[in-house]
Amino acid sequence: MKLLEIQSSVRQEGSISRALSAEFIQVWQMSHSNTDCKMRDVGINPPAHPTALWTQANYTPQEMRSLSMIAALADSETLIEELLWADRLLLGVPMYNFSVPSTFKAYLDNVVRINRTFSFDPTTYTFKGLATSKKALIITPSAGNFVVGTDLDHMNFCDTYLRSLLKFIGIDDITVVPVPDQFMADEIRQAEIAKARTRLMEVATDW
Ligand SMILES: Cc1cc2nc3c(=O)[nH]c(=O)nc-3n(C[C@H](O)[C@H](O)[C@H](O)COP(=O)(O)O)c2cc1C
Repeated sequence: MKLLEIQSSVRQEGSISRALSAEFIQVWQMSHSNTDCKMRDVGINPPAHPTALWTQANYTPQEMRSLSMIAALADSETLIEELLWADRLLLGVPMYNFSVPSTFKAYLDNVVRINRTFSFDPTTYTFKGLATSKKALIITPSAGNFVVGTDLDHMNFCDTYLRSLLKFIGIDDITVVPVPDQFMADEIRQAEIAKARTRLMEVATDW
């Protein structure tokens, strides 16, 4: 079982998503034999944004790409290979301005590519995800509470967006573990971390 951990918090010290992910992986590894884990840290080392050349290369058939086009897509190819390698995706994605961190968006722009992670049939105008046979687990802390049923739930473009995007590339089995707070209310923060930890430990044994 191959797990790709992708972290997008800009923090290393004090990051809730990173700390809970580390705890999850430890229990997950103990619960499964033959595990292989890789880590992609887009919070600390963000991928480059797509450029005009990158875009041109993306829509040029592989065998017709120039050397500069191949070079422009090289990092994207590495990220896609890594994504396709994994059976399990553990995503540490804090809410930044009601959405995913911009570094994580840059990552998505690099991996959601036609004929690599999705295909398009112009005759039927339909899309098909190509990154199949995977499960995704999203750990998503926030300073407020955006869980469905709260006053702010309509402002959540973080895990709601990610769910749609992962489905688009063929990943249907998605578990979201939110870690909400009530804006710096430490007691609530600690209680929500404990709740998330319990949920993650449940998931770890048969995920
Ligand atoms: C640039 C930035 C934007 C943020 N925007 C929001 C936001 O829109 N809503 C929210 O509830 N929290 C927001 N936060 C708070 C983080 O979601 C929260 O601190 C979370 O715990 C960060 O994840 P981490 O602990 O893994 O670093 C923001 C934090 C940063 C750094």
